[in-house]
Amino acid sequence: MVLSAADKTNVRGVFAKIGGQADEYGADALERMFATYPATKTYFPHFDLGKGSAQVKGHGKKVAGALAEAVNHIDDLAGALSKLSDLHAQKLRVDPVNFKLLGQCFLVAVATRNPGLLTPEVHASLDKFLCAVGTVLTAKYR
Ligand code: HEM
Repeated sequence: MVLSAADKTNVRGVFAKIGGQADEYGADALERMFATYPATKTYFPHFDLGKGSAQVKGHGKKVAGALAEAVNHIDDLAGALSKLSDLHAQKLRVDPVNFKLLGQCFLVAVATRNPGLLTPEVHASLDKFLCAVGTVLTAKYR
């Protein structure tokens, strides 16, 4: 998944816009993923997944933080996400299909809160970025 210079600019623009509220977007994306694709809940048997759960909020903050970090190192996603890649691929063994689901939910979280932000071009760039992150996080299965 190769991000063009325009893709990178678009992705940086989205994260600049959502800025300090990124944590909420992470939690919203998780809530949407658990509601829309309930099978994803099987990876979180130890979490309270009820509405407004502090654990989901806390985890949303971690996911959003990792995405923001990835944006800051958009030319070296593999390096920036190396530890998380070890965790997801080698320890958690999350089926790769789930990354597309969370990515879609993150896109919806951005779209619903920012009418007009996701033009087709920006939507496509953010989708490419989230797919690239998912590819890195699932690259170390063996
Ligand atoms: C843990 C990021 C996708 C399941 C984590 C952590 C981060 C993270 C930052 C915390 C690591 C730590 O505490 O050191 C991401 C990102 C994703 C992603 C950026 C994609 C955009 C997924 C998906 C699933 C998943 C799709 C499963 C449906 C988990 C689980 C944990 C975890 C089960 C451990 C939770 C715990 O016990 O605290 N992830 N993740 N992740 N992730 Fe992901």
